[in-house]
Formats: sequence, structure tokens, C-alpha cells
Amino acid sequence: MSIIASNFKTNHTRKSTASFVKEVNDFLVSEEISNDVYIFPTSTSLDSFDTVSNFNIGAQNAYATQKGSFTGEIGTEQLEEFEIKTILIGHSERRHILGESQEEIAKKFSFYSNLGYKIIYCIGEPLEVKEQGIEQTLEYVYEQFVGIDTNYENLILAYEPVWAIGTGVTATNDDITSVHSAIKSKINKPLLYGGSVKVANVRDICALPGVDGALIGTASWILEDFKQIIKNTK
Ligand code: G3H
Repeated sequence: MSIIASNFKTNHTRKSTASFVKEVNDFLVSEEISNDVYIFPTSTSLDSFDTVSNFNIGAQNAYATQKGSFTGEIGTEQLEEFEIKTILIGHSERRHILGESQEEIAKKFSFYSNLGYKIIYCIGEPLEVKEQGIEQTLEYVYEQFVGIDTNYENLILAYEPVWAIGTGVTATNDDITSVHSAIKSKINKPLLYGGSVKVANVRDICALPGVDGALIGTASWILEDFKQIIKNTK
């Protein structure tokens, strides 16, 4: 049984998200699947959904605030309206495209962990670091834990090499195993792999030592693929 998380990124409308979530929910019930399943829709689709207990809706991002003057952001006042208690922090697109610093990420982590939110915390190296070798890769990844309480009880980690995200180039089993076993030896938390996971490779990836599940973008936006992914890892 694996933890399977779908990150919608900037995909799906409010309407298509609602129907997608309902279909996944019905599927989990009818197939009696007990995987821990997460969907992170856009912030416009965070409505309360009638879901089974092993299915969670989370936020892709939120600011470290209850409310205030932070244009374009949402805070806990908005999350609580929809009973959202799960959040992704440190995703590579927020780090590298939106320019979030480790300091800002750590501030979010501290704010949301103090409130007891379940956090999926993402780490991963860009291609130029991977090309320097495993030692440099691990050094880079460990820097992404600066300011993060890795003992936080409600923490799930996701290793997502930046060069594998949305590229169709999945990390090799050796790449995944090396990084996962190194992280696991330091931090005893569930650890997901992310980066071009799809129907065809999810079973093998989730069976690797040190892999507790997958955080999936592209392949998870298609309902039938996402259901198959869940089925392949139950
Ligand atoms: O959050 C998900 C990851 O960024 C992976 O995205 O499955 O499209 O490579 P991907």
C-alpha cells in the first residue's frame, strides 16, 4: 500500500475538479482501496468535498498567515473555510519559478506545523547538480532541510529531482534508491518519489526500498490514469 498524491498544479477547473474528486472517491469505495490518496487542486477548487476517510484534499500553497495584506495569496482563514488541513510546501516550481527562498519556505513550514497541518515537504536537485554526482546531490538536498523540523509528526517528504519533473525522464531506480536511502537514514518519515511517474512505472517505483509512494503531476490529471495508478499500487 502506497501513499499516492496528485498535484494538479495550474490544471482543471472548479467544475472538472469536483467531478474528478467524486469519481476518485467512488472508485476508492467501490474497489475497497485503502491507499492514502491526496489531491492538491488549484486554490479556486478547494471546496469541501464529501470524501472517504483515506482521501485528502490539500492546498498547493498558502502564505504563513491567517489573513492580511498579501496580494494573490491565501491564508488559514480561507483554508479553514474548506476544512483544508493539508499543504504542499517547498515544491520545486515554487522554489525555482516563483523564487521562494529556503528562508520563506522554512517560515511557512514552521507556521503550518505549529497549526498541526499535514505537510508534504518537497526537495530535489536541478540537473546541473545531479551531473556533479551523488555527494553534491545529497549536499544540495540537505540544504533544503535548513530551518525545517524533520521530527514534525505530521510530515511526509517528497523527493522530486527537478530534471525529472514534467519532462518524461524518470529518475532511474538506482538514482531513486541512492537518494531515498540516504534521506531515510537521516529522517524517519514517509518519503514519496516524484518526477514523470506514470501508469507504466508507478508499481516498480513504489516497490523500491525507501519509497513510500508517489507525488504525481502530469499523469494524475487524467482520471483513468490516476485510477490505474492507485490500483497499481494498492
Ligand atoms: O508535484 C508533482 C511533480 O512536480 C511531478 O510532476 O509527474 O508531471 O513529472 P510530473
